[in-house]
Amino acid sequence: MPVITCIEDLKRIYRRRTPRMFYDYTESGSYTESTFRANTDDFARIRLRQKVAVDMTGRSTESTMIGGRVAMPVALAPVGMTGMQSADGEIKAANAARKFGIPYTLSTMSICSIEDVAEATRHPFWFQLYVMRDQEFLEAIIERAKRANCSALVLTLDLQILGQRHKDLKNGLSAPPKLTLPVMLDLATKWRWGIEMLQTRRRSFGNIVGHAKGVGDTRSLMSWTAEQFDPQLDWDKIARIRDLWGGKLILKGINDPEDARIAADFGADAIVVSNHGGRQLDGAVSSIRMLPEIVKAVGDQVEIHLDSGIRSGQDVLKALALGAHGTMIGRAYIYGLGAMGEEGVSTALEVIRKELDITMALCGERNVADLGRHNLLIPREFL
Ligand code: FNR
Repeated sequence: MPVITCIEDLKRIYRRRTPRMFYDYTESGSYTESTFRANTDDFARIRLRQKVAVDMTGRSTESTMIGGRVAMPVALAPVGMTGMQSADGEIKAANAARKFGIPYTLSTMSICSIEDVAEATRHPFWFQLYVMRDQEFLEAIIERAKRANCSALVLTLDLQILGQRHKDLKNGLSAPPKLTLPVMLDLATKWRWGIEMLQTRRRSFGNIVGHAKGVGDTRSLMSWTAEQFDPQLDWDKIARIRDLWGGKLILKGINDPEDARIAADFGADAIVVSNHGGRQLDGAVSSIRMLPEIVKAVGDQVEIHLDSGIRSGQDVLKALALGAHGTMIGRAYIYGLGAMGEEGVSTALEVIRKELDITMALCGERNVADLGRHNLLIPREFL
């Protein structure tokens, strides 16, 4: 077993083990991928201030997210098709998060269904909802999330229409994959993945297939999904969903101070400053760069989480120091999952926790709550 020292190590193993189609699905952004790249580049542009001769004992990365205790302020972001990266991937990721003591978010577009994850983990998780046009489906899935005891609804607002990812179109992305010649040649070298997949019955979108009217197989699912993202989404519809749900509500995909103000006035329990990991509006500003403006606008009104571009504990620290109360990671844990299943997700989390802890100490801080701008050198254009 190779020594894993950082998230990049997991990414390398993930790439070797996983069919190209699913690796590319993760490791891509929309169109020219300029926002996908800016997300990580902008984290690197923020520098940390070193402090010495400060007592480092008694450090803790513990915090809260929407009122619940967390081992570190990092939640697993919703990621579609996680069960194609590793068999029953959603269950493995949820279990790793539960053992670590942080929230897991199940995507609407998951392979394992809400019920599969609830039954396997017997632990509350967050459920992410895309607003679909099919009202019957929308109401039913909210009910299913309630019945499964989901502890928060993460409503994603930045996908009313799909940003195009060139690689997915070229690869003919589908779940399960269509067995074309290039796919079969690729699978010949990734045979361990194939065997693992054959051992699970869950190979298509469990929240949708068999639940939406007329969607009984993958082909009908694809055309249904393409028509379902709601281009007419507005704050009235969001209010209706809030009323149907009645529990904690997190609004994800806010990357503009004015939208943040509306979301805060609306009474969300938290917002996630995010550009969907660079997968939607290509050319959008990185979320870490937008964060100071958004914190200034609503930081005292609503809990702010941030995602898009986090690949290390140092990145988590930078987001917290810029005013986020919590963070989410997407690709960083998917690399771990694809590399080594549940153990890989646990490894990714442990890597990030250690990096956060040690970086905090070298910045002269003992608690995540004490982090602030005094720990950073921030490029002028971020402010
Ligand atoms: C996502 N993301 C996402 N978001 C969401 O609300 N529902 C979803 O189904 C998905 N699916 C999805 C698939 C893949 C492969 C990726 C990489 C991302 C976005 C995700 O929740 C999160 O916003 C980003 O992943 C954050 O960026 P990083 O951490 O991946 O850089």
